[in-house]
Amino acid sequence: MAAITLKGLKKSFGGTQVIKGVDITIENGEFVVFVGPSGCGKSTLLRMIAGLEDISGGTLTIGDKVMNDLPPKDRGVAMVFQSYAIFPHMTVRENVAFGLTIAGASKEEKDAKVAEAARILQMEHLLDRRPSQLSGGQRQRVAIGRAIVRKPEVFLFDEPLSNLDAALRMDMRMEIGKLHQQLGATMVYVTHDQVEAMTLADKIVVLKDGLVQQVGSPMDLYHNPDNIFVAGFLGSPSMNFLDVEVTAVAEGRAMVRNAALDPVSVPVRHPGITAGTKARLGIRPQYLDPDDPAGRLHGRVALTERLGSETVIETELTDGTNLIVALARDAKFAIGASISLAFDPDMAHLFAA
Ligand SMILES: Nc1ncnc2c1ncn2[C@@H]1O[C@H](COP(=O)(O)OP(=O)(O)O)[C@@H](O)[C@H]1O
Ligand SMILES: [Mg+2]
Repeated sequence: MAAITLKGLKKSFGGTQVIKGVDITIENGEFVVFVGPSGCGKSTLLRMIAGLEDISGGTLTIGDKVMNDLPPKDRGVAMVFQSYAIFPHMTVRENVAFGLTIAGASKEEKDAKVAEAARILQMEHLLDRRPSQLSGGQRQRVAIGRAIVRKPEVFLFDEPLSNLDAALRMDMRMEIGKLHQQLGATMVYVTHDQVEAMTLADKIVVLKDGLVQQVGSPMDLYHNPDNIFVAGFLGSPSMNFLDVEVTAVAEGRAMVRNAALDPVSVPVRHPGITAGTKARLGIRPQYLDPDDPAGRLHGRVALTERLGSETVIETELTDGTNLIVALARDAKFAIGASISLAFDPDMAHLFAA
């Protein structure tokens, strides 16, 4: 196992800088997820750790060694890709043992390590099949098995579940979580899926345009996002944002309002909020309550989605803003009916516009 440090890490392709100075510390044995929209530089950053991309600037340390110029095979890392990257002409056994074969391991060693990996991944019955005889989830398990047998200090996963259908994705997600508990290895996992980030990570790194937006535990980022991007990226449905006017600021709170929102005092946790300015008020769909008679937000029901255990209501506020409400129960709302929504002001997030 090993800790990883990224210090001022930069990467340019030709004249275009895509990683713009990234500082991250990954503890020994930690499960860290890099999350962000497509194109923000997640894969590039992971490939720089793996040694598959040159580092244009900064320092990469794994354990206590600077790795900038070491080839991939000397870094003690194993990578699992979205595309599985397994060989179609080899059996599962041969695929899993591939790295050991290259390294000249004996048959006994290979058999023992493949058997152990197969046991951990519950694929003993698949060892003599070829990839074409496997489902997507089983193929990804083979790719993970190939990483396990090398006993790497660090596992690197690049969107390993993105090619799987939704149900399988959830199964495999849980398996990867268990794998981390069993092996205790350092794992760095890249995904655009905030659910994977929230459920798997000890620590999430939110990236946008090659820069770190925020680092923290899932609940820390969920409850205390540093900026609008992080607030909107984590959580489903996404946080609602309302354009509001700040009418007064005192003692760590601000009075805000707009045409659809009765004046309300909310906490100020971010810079740039002063009286007379515009701001954005973030409220999670789950924190809006249509039953409380003290509803401060006014509008009409535009659409409802009844999922059984949950009801999602799209509303159009009187100022024209669309606002999503998520109730943890079944409920029926007539389209066009007026609706007033209450929320706990202390759970709202006020950001400078
Ligand atoms: N080999 C390459 N040559 C030029 N540009 C690249 C190369 N690889 C990635 N990029 C660019 O770098 C940016 C980040 O890409 P990537 O790390 O793949 O993003 P992500 O994995 O977050 O979707 C993108 O704008 C992408 O087009
Ligand atoms: Mg990618």
